[in-house]
Amino acid sequence: MYNLVVFASGNGSTLQSIIDNINSGNLKAKIQLVISNNHDAYALTRAKNDNIPTYIIKNSNNKDIDNELLEVLSHYDIDLIVLAGYLKLIGSGLINKYTIINTHPALLPKFGGKGMYGMNVHRAVINAHENKSGVTLHYVNEKYDSGDIISQTVVDVLPNDTPEDLATRVQAAEKIQLINVLKEFEK
Ligand code: GAR
Repeated sequence: MYNLVVFASGNGSTLQSIIDNINSGNLKAKIQLVISNNHDAYALTRAKNDNIPTYIIKNSNNKDIDNELLEVLSHYDIDLIVLAGYLKLIGSGLINKYTIINTHPALLPKFGGKGMYGMNVHRAVINAHENKSGVTLHYVNEKYDSGDIISQTVVDVLPNDTPEDLATRVQAAEKIQLINVLKEFEK
């Protein structure tokens, strides 16, 4: 059993998959806290439905967010932070103190960086006429999407795929891959 904190900015289907795998006993972890920069994030509702404490970031500037979260997280026992669809850059204070991983819905180093988030990624992959996309799990450093890669899954881009079609298949692969990686951290 180990302790997670999950950061999420939006819908939170990735968070939900972690919750479901914990509740089914497949993943031996506990989510101590869900953090969001967006008070409207459905991820917060998903956390509350499972009685997981939530925290909404107050500051907007990256340096201030880093200090704010260092203070908030100091009250928890944390083994791993998971970015599950989180939009903001992570500051050096958090990076130096915690092990942080991110899931990205493409094959990094392609289609990463600032603004490459969620559907923007899938639209860019389709517009570039790629025939492969996928999922990248990586450690987080001070630049968007550029930390050491833990694992990747390739997902075919089919000839008539819309960005939504591709997102559906990538997200299905992503949930499997993320849980496999999180199970590695049980050890
Ligand atoms: C996920 O596909 C995740 O990989 C992506 O946002 C989606 C969040 O979906 N993250 C990024 O693009 C980070 N650059 P969710 O809110 O339903 O979990």
